[in-house]
Amino acid sequence: MPSVTNKKSNSNNSGFPLGHSRKSSTANTNSNSNNNNNNNNNKPVATSNSSAATNTAFSSASSSSSAHTTPPKPSGKSGGWAEALPEATRKRFAKYNIDLSRGYPERPAHIPRYLEEAYKIRNDRPENYVERGKNADPEKKALFGAAKEVRDLTKHIGTEIVGVQLEDLSEKQLDELALLVAERVVVVFREQDLSPQRQLEIGKYYGRVEVHPIQGHVPGYPGITTVWNKYNRAKYLQQYQKGINSGWHTDLVHEFTPAGITHLHLDSIPEIGGDTCFTSGYAAYDKLSPALQKFVDGKTVIQRSAHTYYKHGDQVFDGPQYIEREHPLVHTHPVTGWKSLNVNRSLSLRIVGLEPAESDLILNYLYDVYEKNLDIQVRISWQQDKPGLGASAIWDNRVSQHVAVADYNDEEAKTKRHANRVTSLGDVLYFDPNSKSQREALGLSLD
Ligand SMILES: [Fe+2]
Repeated sequence: MPSVTNKKSNSNNSGFPLGHSRKSSTANTNSNSNNNNNNNNNKPVATSNSSAATNTAFSSASSSSSAHTTPPKPSGKSGGWAEALPEATRKRFAKYNIDLSRGYPERPAHIPRYLEEAYKIRNDRPENYVERGKNADPEKKALFGAAKEVRDLTKHIGTEIVGVQLEDLSEKQLDELALLVAERVVVVFREQDLSPQRQLEIGKYYGRVEVHPIQGHVPGYPGITTVWNKYNRAKYLQQYQKGINSGWHTDLVHEFTPAGITHLHLDSIPEIGGDTCFTSGYAAYDKLSPALQKFVDGKTVIQRSAHTYYKHGDQVFDGPQYIEREHPLVHTHPVTGWKSLNVNRSLSLRIVGLEPAESDLILNYLYDVYEKNLDIQVRISWQQDKPGLGASAIWDNRVSQHVAVADYNDEEAKTKRHANRVTSLGDVLYFDPNSKSQREALGLSLD
């Protein structure tokens, strides 16, 4: 991926743009200072009073619940939500024996309300975690050999594989796919006949599958989260208003082991709109000057959950609370060994060790680098020629941000957008001071 970019062209004259702060850091920034540490900075931190949950629509928090309940009925007229499913989704679920007799989607029976409980969920490093990309053939012969075409979508991010069915991939091919995802950040597959069961199986192969605490899931499969605008807006996203899109974000940054490989499968694709954009954390880091890279290397950042919980005790005065954990601000990807910038405007709170104003200034600049450089982004259009088949995007959540383009409207679209997501959590994030940036490692120009 040859690339020459002018790092200085991405900022205003000051180099630190102002006016983008959506949150001010009111908590003690000197707490939990733990610079330059490996594998040891993902501890929970004391929470600060926080504003209400943001509209990070499809980010996820945590739950270990696997029990199920009958989903709620849609407000208004006739039928349940299962009857409102798009035709392509209904056909796919019927084909793969998904039982909709108790409605759709299924919701967790137990939703954690209290912060103490929420902190305990997956508060550990999973045993026997295998970083699948590490086992892969660097040339990816098994995966590429099965494809009709392998096409890079942009120089820095995004690859599409044509002519391969995810349903059929061997473990060897899945290992190679994990490596490709680690290198290219996001990989797209179209015209897929993919069963929900297989999507979950692939997710389990890549790591511990996250179970969403609030969003509905495919009945009988709590790890397969429903991403369905019509339903989600009705149930959870009352604050999701015209003009307020889901912002750029990284999923599940507050987890002890944040989300790794994430797989979104659209089984019903609107005629137009509803694209998803991705931006590369490797390339964002490479955009920084050597002096700023040196400053952010080894720092840590407090990341929060998308959802809020109550504190036991005086709920009225404490207000809603986020889960917060400390992670490396720059982390080293375990497969590529490249450095990536680990911040996002929606869920990063503060850089540890800095004064709140200092932290806001630098974070806002880092967010801008991620969000405003089109050359490090890719916009995935889901549309394809063959109706009735789905499309998948599989990305490495640890080295990216994403955002849904909110130009899709359920009332206007003939074909409604419906998707299922499976998220495989990775290992503990770490920073290796001897690791290199992507361009440095690949011997590309740093200018
Ligand atoms: Fe997301």
